[in-house]
Amino acid sequence: MLTCSRYFYSVTHFLSPPITTTTTTAVNHLFSRPKPLLLSPPRSYSHSHTMNQDNNKTNTHHQLHSSIEFLTQKPYSPPLWATGLGPVPSHTVSLGHLPTPIHRWNLPNLPRNTEVYLKRDDLSGMQLSGNKVRKLEFLMADALAQGADCVVTVGGIQSNHCRATAVAAKYLNLDCYLILRTSKVLADQDPGLTGNLLVERLVGAHVQLISKEEYGQIGSVALANALKEKLIKEGRKPYVIPVGGSNSLGTWGYIEAVREIEQQVEASGGRLKFDDIVVACGSGGTVAGLSLGSQLGALKAKVHAYAVCDDPDYFYDFVQGLTDGLNAGVNSRDIADVLNAKGLGYAMNTSEELKFVKEIAAATGVVLDPVYSGKAAYRMMEDMAENPAKWEGRKVLFIHTGGLLGLYDKVDQLGSLVGNWSRMDVNESVPRKDGIGKMF
Ligand SMILES: Cc1ncc(COP(=O)(O)O)c(C=O)c1O
Repeated sequence: MLTCSRYFYSVTHFLSPPITTTTTTAVNHLFSRPKPLLLSPPRSYSHSHTMNQDNNKTNTHHQLHSSIEFLTQKPYSPPLWATGLGPVPSHTVSLGHLPTPIHRWNLPNLPRNTEVYLKRDDLSGMQLSGNKVRKLEFLMADALAQGADCVVTVGGIQSNHCRATAVAAKYLNLDCYLILRTSKVLADQDPGLTGNLLVERLVGAHVQLISKEEYGQIGSVALANALKEKLIKEGRKPYVIPVGGSNSLGTWGYIEAVREIEQQVEASGGRLKFDDIVVACGSGGTVAGLSLGSQLGALKAKVHAYAVCDDPDYFYDFVQGLTDGLNAGVNSRDIADVLNAKGLGYAMNTSEELKFVKEIAAATGVVLDPVYSGKAAYRMMEDMAENPAKWEGRKVLFIHTGGLLGLYDKVDQLGSLVGNWSRMDVNESVPRKDGIGKMF
């Protein structure tokens, strides 16, 4: 198996994701790309000025390289510390705009000497945004390897995972079938165009609605399999992606994210040595990859996962299944700290939670989604206020997992919180003349 020898390691490699020297395979004729540029091999530097100049060049090469790899398939080799896991995926498809930035997040009222940083996985791409894109890089590569002509997946009516899957599928010339869960009264109606639905419908995903009651009785696996069987009978070759893209294969997405964070920590010269990682947990794949990677690699940060549906016990068992599927030999309770952030229930918000989202946006410019990162950050801040000693002096990395389109589903509830508007009052003395204002 190939490991780091396949990567060019230079003093700047930490600033960019590892780049393979192998030839990139175009996914299909629609997306063929020129062969990647070959970068120079690692060198030793004797003078810092020269080093900076060369670093800049290498960085530009790296950035150029990843920009022409978008939507192409490439062989995968795991980080050295993950080579004991298996099965190891053979390929990935480049879908995300990676690495995502890390920056200081100046949250108000933090405990003494606590520093919070944000990993901006919400910036992993607009249509594909958030954490789902990292899992899809592996899942879509598997779909292509299996010769699928369409993908089937399942989620809630505003599922970010379903939207990201719908977009990724179309990028890769695959058809997409979505089974979306909604209320009994809405299951027979046009689902509308709010938030994620707008994107799904624009890219032509086949949306099939199911009531919560039927979903509860049948389950996501049987529903997806029923649709798969139907499609096979019609002569199609479907590939089923589980809820949230959370299976052992999808878990590699956040194992890779840990490698990316490690490289960013290195690039900071150790300034960004994190004690804790905080993330929202919905279907469990993100926390599984993060906690496993943090444990096996150099990060060794404590991973706190705020569950926005189901209880911590459910997620400990689920994460155990995912890590067992990779033969990791770990106990999920040793590697992750799963906490309850469910509140009123999945995708339901209290007015305090939405007020928090609004206040954090106004204070820091960072917009959190209300269903995942909004709830996780709310509970994290609550815990910091209640147990400041637990967090004092720690460096915390909060993973913003995206999901901003879900905000559009909350406009009615948010309306009363964002009332800053008024009619502009222009003094009579300002000269006026018809046609003077050009309206583009
Ligand atoms: C925006 C967003 N953040 C976080 C999560 C949770 O990630 P995971 O499903 O891997 O637990 C999801 C999906 O469930 C999501 O859509």
